[in-house]
Amino acid sequence: MSERKFVPQAELDRQFSICDQLKKEIEPRGLTFYVETFGCQMNVRDSETIKGILTNIGYGEAPDKEHADLILYNTCCVREHAEKRLMGNIGALKELKEANPGLIIGVCGCMMQQEGVAKKLLRRFPHVNLVFGTHVLHRLPEMLAHVFAGDRLAMTGEEDFAIAEGLPQLRDNPRSAFVNITFGCNNFCTYCIVPYVRGRERSRDPEAIRAEVAALCASGVTEITLLGQNVNSYANDLESGSFAELLSLLNDVPGLKRLRFMSSHPKDLNDDVIRAIRETDKVCHHVHLPVQSGSNAILRRMNRRYTREQYLEIIRKLREAVPDIEFTTDIIVGFPGETEEMFHETLSLVEEVGFAAAFTFAYSPRNGTPAARMEDQIPEDSKKRRLYELNDLQAQKTVENNQKYIGYTGELLVEGCDDRGTETMLYGKYQNFKMVYFPGDPSLLNRYVNVRVLRAERNSLIGEQIHG
Ligand code: 5AD
Ligand code: SF4
Repeated sequence: MSERKFVPQAELDRQFSICDQLKKEIEPRGLTFYVETFGCQMNVRDSETIKGILTNIGYGEAPDKEHADLILYNTCCVREHAEKRLMGNIGALKELKEANPGLIIGVCGCMMQQEGVAKKLLRRFPHVNLVFGTHVLHRLPEMLAHVFAGDRLAMTGEEDFAIAEGLPQLRDNPRSAFVNITFGCNNFCTYCIVPYVRGRERSRDPEAIRAEVAALCASGVTEITLLGQNVNSYANDLESGSFAELLSLLNDVPGLKRLRFMSSHPKDLNDDVIRAIRETDKVCHHVHLPVQSGSNAILRRMNRRYTREQYLEIIRKLREAVPDIEFTTDIIVGFPGETEEMFHETLSLVEEVGFAAAFTFAYSPRNGTPAARMEDQIPEDSKKRRLYELNDLQAQKTVENNQKYIGYTGELLVEGCDDRGTETMLYGKYQNFKMVYFPGDPSLLNRYVNVRVLRAERNSLIGEQIHG
């Protein structure tokens, strides 16, 4: 049943020993790296692994790219504008390279897995030393050894993408961490490039996930976000187990306070998962449930394999089971063939559900995906207008959603602070993902505090800390 492949321990050991050798050279020279990450949480998590490996090689982290000896861009290719931006960014590094000829420039991530891109990039930008894809992160020590020997190289990995366990990681946040549970995707939504660049879905073993979560919590992490393109199909490629069982397995890890997950695919969010959210005490009452469209005709063309009615039924069941649950979503407007009427079905769904927040996108054709070849592509100006209209509606719905919280008190994990002139405003989230701002001391960063919501401003909730 399971066709998963793992990177053999001997290969990982070989890479670790290259790290040890490189460290002898790098560390005494005080060299630093700068990693810039584009795209989704998967990429953020991959960058943590890359930074962990670079640290093992003896690099320190630079405050910005101007002071770095190694610059790495971790790329995204989900939408086209990311690509254009990246090309501009890489071009701009030429000046830094001229000022510091020893500077190493690398480009990695999803975009490099697209056919021909890695080689094209090396040709087009002579100042780039290294290009690699998402499947060969564990070989970074070996790749860098080649670069130090004067080579320029592109490595993307072929078929049979293997899972590499036990790689190092360097994370910024001491309280909150991402943990991969699946890699890749089997869904082939017709607009989406991810299955082509991240490969077929592979689940990690539940024991490996639990061990990683336990180690993170032992080191002070209290909030874990499980990552997968579709977390609900976790374990479909294993002999046994399910996403619902995984939630229960992780719920009692000592030190864990909040267990989050993303993204959920509506076609696989079953009653067992709903029960697990209700019956576990650490699983947060928030589901990021991308709907993509409110029109059945478009959902069919997108190959989403659920209907508007089925989507609304999941929302209804989750609200019934877990009354304080909040939903966020992803929506694409201007998918090929989307008529005004179909677009209005999306608006009416947004009206009906009342998402806490929505990430909205104009459809962007991706080479190699079925939707890019469909007829009835929508003109850019119509896509833009629909996007504005949708964003306007969601902004109203966010305001409405915020009103519910006035007077509410709950525990907030403080995530950041904004200096607003005379006052420092801290912000953080309740367990159900609602964000609140409140005046407070930056020493509260990464701590849990009780906050009461006093009022709602246009986009945000404002509260005050409650002591005792
Ligand atoms: N065009 C626009 N949006 C897209 N997404 C994925 N592919 C495309 C595309 N080709 C959006 C989807 C997905 C989110 C991560 O990005 O809404 O859920
Ligand atoms: Fe892309 Fe669909 Fe897979 Fe999400 S579920 S990564 S949208 S193919």
